[in-house]
Amino acid sequence: MEFHKDLSNVGWEKVKRRQLQRESLVYEWIELVGMKQGSSVLDIGTGPGVFTLKYSRAVGNKGEIYALDQSKEALDLFLKDIDGNNKNIKPIYTNAEGSLDPVGKVDIVMITDVLHHADSPVDIIRNVYQHINGNGCALIAEFDPESEGHIGPPLKNRISKEEMKELVQTVGFQIVKEGKQEYEHYYMLLKK
Ligand SMILES: C[S@@+](CC[C@H](N)C(=O)[O-])C[C@H]1O[C@@H](n2cnc3c(N)ncnc32)[C@H](O)[C@@H]1O
Repeated sequence: MEFHKDLSNVGWEKVKRRQLQRESLVYEWIELVGMKQGSSVLDIGTGPGVFTLKYSRAVGNKGEIYALDQSKEALDLFLKDIDGNNKNIKPIYTNAEGSLDPVGKVDIVMITDVLHHADSPVDIIRNVYQHINGNGCALIAEFDPESEGHIGPPLKNRISKEEMKELVQTVGFQIVKEGKQEYEHYYMLLKK
């Protein structure tokens, strides 16, 4: 299938099914960032929110989840799945390349499978840097161009690890952990 950055050729129900197929990744991500009861989390590019619901459960009613997406349609689909158990979720409709001021500072920022859809990944990473508490962290997970291409975007539309390292280091982040994951993914755990 042709790749459209804004996913306009896919449809949000299909994006949701794809999230469900990759659901196992989210447990590793939660562990990597040390998400726990009471954590404040900014989830950039929530999409239909399959993973965001897991974050909501992990942080409990003392925590908070900012579910941010530039697509109102995607967030509206997500909001249909929210009930009284997810009062800690605050949806934010905005482009993460612009100001993130409604969010304030958080403990953890999740940026999973978003940056290859963005027009300017570096602007998102720069904004994230400003919105993390001093001892907080950010997790980037992306499809790896050095893999088979059986799942996910075409290899040519992926961001390589080397390119990503340069982007995050330009902004001032330190990479404290990195690795490969199933479903052709790599991750980087970032701290200030
Ligand atoms: C493929 S989905 C990924 C959803 C989820 N994070 C995951 O790991 O499956 C990419 C999402 O990022 C959103 N997105 C892309 N660029 C964005 C930006 N600049 N600001 C906010 N959301 C953005 C898209 O609207 C879409 O919902």
